[in-house]
Amino acid sequence: MATAAAAAHGGAADRPMPDYVEGPIRAFAVITLFWGIVGFLVGVVIAAQLAWPLLNLDLEWTTFGRLRPLHTSAVIFAFGGNALLGTSLYIVQRTCRARLFGGEEMGWFLFWGYQFFIVSAALGYVLGVTQGKEYAEPEWFVDLFLTVLWVIYLVAYVGTIMKREEPHIYVANWFFLAFIITVAMLHIGNNISLPVSIGSTWSYAAPPGVQGAMIQWWYGHNAVGFFLTAGFLGMMYYFIPKQAERPVYSYRLSIVHFWSLIFLYIWAGPHHLHYTALPDWAQTLGMVFSVMLWMPSWGGMINGIMTLSGAWDKLRTNPGLRFSVTAVAFYGMSTFEGPVMSIRAVNGLSHYTDWTIGHVHSGALGWNGLVTFGALYWLIPTLWGRRGMWSTKLMSWHFWLATIGIVLYITAMWVSGIMQGLMWRAYDELGFLQYSFIETVAAMHPYYVIRMLGGVLYLAGACLMAWNVWKTITESEAEEPVRAAAPAGARAVPAE
Ligand code: HEM
Ligand code: HEM
Repeated sequence: MATAAAAAHGGAADRPMPDYVEGPIRAFAVITLFWGIVGFLVGVVIAAQLAWPLLNLDLEWTTFGRLRPLHTSAVIFAFGGNALLGTSLYIVQRTCRARLFGGEEMGWFLFWGYQFFIVSAALGYVLGVTQGKEYAEPEWFVDLFLTVLWVIYLVAYVGTIMKREEPHIYVANWFFLAFIITVAMLHIGNNISLPVSIGSTWSYAAPPGVQGAMIQWWYGHNAVGFFLTAGFLGMMYYFIPKQAERPVYSYRLSIVHFWSLIFLYIWAGPHHLHYTALPDWAQTLGMVFSVMLWMPSWGGMINGIMTLSGAWDKLRTNPGLRFSVTAVAFYGMSTFEGPVMSIRAVNGLSHYTDWTIGHVHSGALGWNGLVTFGALYWLIPTLWGRRGMWSTKLMSWHFWLATIGIVLYITAMWVSGIMQGLMWRAYDELGFLQYSFIETVAAMHPYYVIRMLGGVLYLAGACLMAWNVWKTITESEAEEPVRAAAPAGARAVPAE
């Protein structure tokens, strides 16, 4: 397999492997898991606060309002972001057969720079210094720092591609490039603001009113499209072929998938602003592009899952692959649900309800979480030169705890969300609202408890993983020298 794949890449197997940068990638892998556990824990805490408001503790720092953005940023930017940076820097080197541009120093600079951004952002949330834009809460000075760091990341990535020894740029790199470039554009576009006064940590957003809302959701939706989707698809296109030891099902489909996805995503933002002051035509445009997005999304899902053709038996023996494939199934599910929710009539029911929260977490826990765990289960033994993970049994336990946790979370939110929407719009025979708001809140209580239990299971699975990773690093048997010396790229390079 490795030879056939290498032949497709111009006989690269005969050439010596470059001295890949690995230290910072190891650090990214470990910190991803660390921030994941922190983010899931805060998720469980805010889930418990919604079920039992007393847990807000009457302290400004521990209220739901402050902890919620701490959760969203910890899971998206700290857990997801570190996973993306680490895997992208690993993949670009292996698929280009080139050492990271800027070498070890560049890798460490990106690592520490990104952790500095995360800690500065988190401090801002807890101390209440934010600009109040969802998923873009950090204030102007943190935004400026991230902009500089991101441009350096782009330079490192493009620099590595430019000095590649492979003639071809493997499709995973296309997705990562789209992620890096678009996130830079969105971040700058949505953060144009003016400090309140010289030396102030607070700022005003430049575009006012409905234009400001439009730009915020152009950013917000494309954070989903390019941060939580394109980058993670880059991971899918590398790790599933690796784990299944099969080439990508259809390389042609991956290219169609890429161009259609990035072209359609960028227009879909207005579906977050249905029935608002945004002009009707813009809402319709967002809805139509969202419905069309179903097609490329499922094209990607099919490509990921069908890569297993002829290797389905590996699902029984390789729990790492099970994570990646189940992740793609959740990706398919949430990208079917999203287009349905973008239809204005459906959104009239779903908006403001827990249905949205269920949709978010089927994507976040199911797609982003599981695909990251699958990638880490491949990366950890490879980077530390181990035969495999310390315990496959623990990997299986993790898989089932996470899957059951997700199912509890999202089914509870569907029931509670649809019930909530229907209760809000129920009238009695005299035309009065049938339920007071507090009655709808009380009706949701059992589902909030179930959601919290689902979160506890998901968190427990991640803790098992941390234990397994620790044991793999400190105790697992090393690979025989020949295999350990051969970088992972040589085993089964994703081929055309
Ligand atoms: C143990 C796991 C998790 C639990 C228990 C959890 C719990 C929660 C809760 C209670 C909320 C607030 C819901 C509300 O305001 O009604 C929330 C919001 C959110 N969470 Fe999580 N979460 C978890 C993992 C994740 C992960 C892994 C991600 C992303 C990768 C994520 C992304 C989000 C986002 C984006 C929101 C905001 C949704 C919106 O505004 O519509 N969560 N989460
Ligand atoms: C074809 C793909 C998708 C479409 C068309 C889509 C569409 C939608 C729609 C219509 C909403 C509700 C907007 C509202 O009522 O305010 C929504 C919310 C959301 N979706 Fe998706 N979705 C897609 C895929 C995904 C995926 C894969 C993820 C996660 C990985 C995701 C994450 C989110 C988040 C975080 C929100 C909540 C935003 C907020 O209000 O804070 N979506 N999506």
